[in-house]
Amino acid sequence: MRKLIAGNWKMNGLVSSQAEIEALKGLTGSATCDIVVCPPFTLLDRAVERVKGSSLTIGAQDCHAQQSGAHTGDISAEMLADIGAHYVILGHSERRVAHGEDDAMVLEKAVAAHQAGLISIVCVGETRHERDEGRAIKVVDKQLRASVPEGATGQTLVIAYEPVWAIGTGLVPTNEQIEEMHAAIRQVLQERLGSDGHSVRILYGGSVKASNAEALFRLRNVDGALVGGASLKASEFAAVTLAAQTS
Ligand code: 13P
Repeated sequence: MRKLIAGNWKMNGLVSSQAEIEALKGLTGSATCDIVVCPPFTLLDRAVERVKGSSLTIGAQDCHAQQSGAHTGDISAEMLADIGAHYVILGHSERRVAHGEDDAMVLEKAVAAHQAGLISIVCVGETRHERDEGRAIKVVDKQLRASVPEGATGQTLVIAYEPVWAIGTGLVPTNEQIEEMHAAIRQVLQERLGSDGHSVRILYGGSVKASNAEALFRLRNVDGALVGGASLKASEFAAVTLAAQTS
């Protein structure tokens, strides 16, 4: 499966940060994996313009479930597609915690994203407490079943497994834990989507960086990465994409 490397800038990036996207274009010129950068809303339009003619694509970090209307401060999937964004991250744990997003909301947003022609990157993952209690697989299974839309395919959906305790902490699950979880996710996708479940890419996210990426990409059912902190510097992010091409 062709790997996907997605950079989630979170609430980082000013107009001057476009230099990183410009540099990335040079560093990832003939990449054999798909690469998407997800800057904050304020930079999306400029970023789309900047990557034109390159192999990079641009994604957003959230969208509203409605197409338009009285939703102050929100951005719809249609608006994102309209400016040329290709992807949207949905259900990131930071949004689940800070904005009270639940699986039902993530499902609605994913449906809206697919209707608008965007590829959704739906995030799932357990907390430290849930893993310590031996419930990690059960928690992710429930998130997936409640948030993956009927009829999704590898062309419209990407799943990102991001253990909450591995985000921004430098902690990474063991290879066995990642393979076990990704196999469980693959199984649910096949149950929900039939043969289309085979082609949905399953990314790993949580403290991915250049130095650990190659080993992660060799694991079974790891089809790429959702990268936070290490996506902010073009050279580091480019090194992660290079690892995807050599592993
Ligand atoms: P870090 O790579 O900074 O751990 O963040 C992961 C993440 O949340 C990506 O969405």
